[in-house]
Amino acid sequence: MKKDIYVLGIETSCDETAAAVVKNGREIMSNIVASQIESHKRFGGVVPEVASRHHVEQITLVIEQAMNEANLSFSELDAIAVTQGPGLVGALLIGVNAAKALAFAHQLPLVSVHHIAGHIYANRLVTEMKFPLLSLVVSGGHTELVYMKEHGEFEVIGETRDDAAGEAYDKVARALSLPYPGGPHIDRLAHEGKVTIDLPRAWLEEDSYDFSFSGLKSAVINTLHNAHQRGETIEAKDMAASFQASVIDVLVTKTVKAAQVYKVRQVLLAGGVAANRGLRTELERKMAELKGVELVIPPLSLCTDNAAMIAAAGTILFEKGKYATMSLNANPSLELE
Ligand code: KG4
Ligand code: ZN
Repeated sequence: MKKDIYVLGIETSCDETAAAVVKNGREIMSNIVASQIESHKRFGGVVPEVASRHHVEQITLVIEQAMNEANLSFSELDAIAVTQGPGLVGALLIGVNAAKALAFAHQLPLVSVHHIAGHIYANRLVTEMKFPLLSLVVSGGHTELVYMKEHGEFEVIGETRDDAAGEAYDKVARALSLPYPGGPHIDRLAHEGKVTIDLPRAWLEEDSYDFSFSGLKSAVINTLHNAHQRGETIEAKDMAASFQASVIDVLVTKTVKAAQVYKVRQVLLAGGVAANRGLRTELERKMAELKGVELVIPPLSLCTDNAAMIAAAGTILFEKGKYATMSLNANPSLELE
């Protein structure tokens, strides 16, 4: 009988210090996330220096808690998986060094995970992945359509040429004087407002699966500015609804088209913006028309940054024998492919 595999995952790429234990790449034994959002809120965004300091303070406690909740000792683990990049270099370094120290001390294999691979593998904690598949990754730093023929093989078929979807949400939220991170606030307001403002949709060239959100962001800011100068008021909820409609239209249309062209069996939603209710509903509605393609959407807690997704992606690398060495370094601009 095949032995169970236990992997400890560590994630510190941005503003969450996280550790988790996952069994066989599918089952969460523990999933601890210490968020720093409160500390960054007053600056209106993540301050790298502040993030690194928080990670240093939290990392040992978070790992200890993850091991305690999983009720395992280090000798029962099979590997340690850590986010190598992309992300903030000072933040990544805390996780990478903690993982290296633990792997060395307990003589365990170390595997290095790409943050986006982690977001995609959050879906494996929900259901088994069926290939070929397509994943729409939408987070604060990324907007990508990733095609996968099998485990651990990633082909980026489309990506943003400027702002990430989450970044556009956060910037538009700021223009509407909403707190950081703005995504959830816009999402909430969008459900109260109406699509009354005609905003652009960047379709780009025909057949392109790339995205662009900076033009839309500028259009929102200009519209607000012009209205202000004319002494008119635009309801924040209507602007939120109009902005969200434009983002969702492009994301969903391109994803559904790519799912058909690439004849995939599954479409996976991943990343912080996958928590967006409007996006989830619209993708569900459009995907229902595509017969034979399964749509997987992780629960909210697995959409935003966590370490269970890193352990899940790391399990595949461990099974393939793709170990990292003790010279592993953080890489803020690590490529997925
Ligand atoms: O994946 P994530 O936790 O961190 C990164 O790897 O970037 O994503 C964070 C992003 C933020 O930009 C946040 O505003 C956005 O996800 N977000 C949302 C929602 N919840 C979080 N955006 C739109 N609607 C939401 N409900
Ligand atoms: Zn993320």
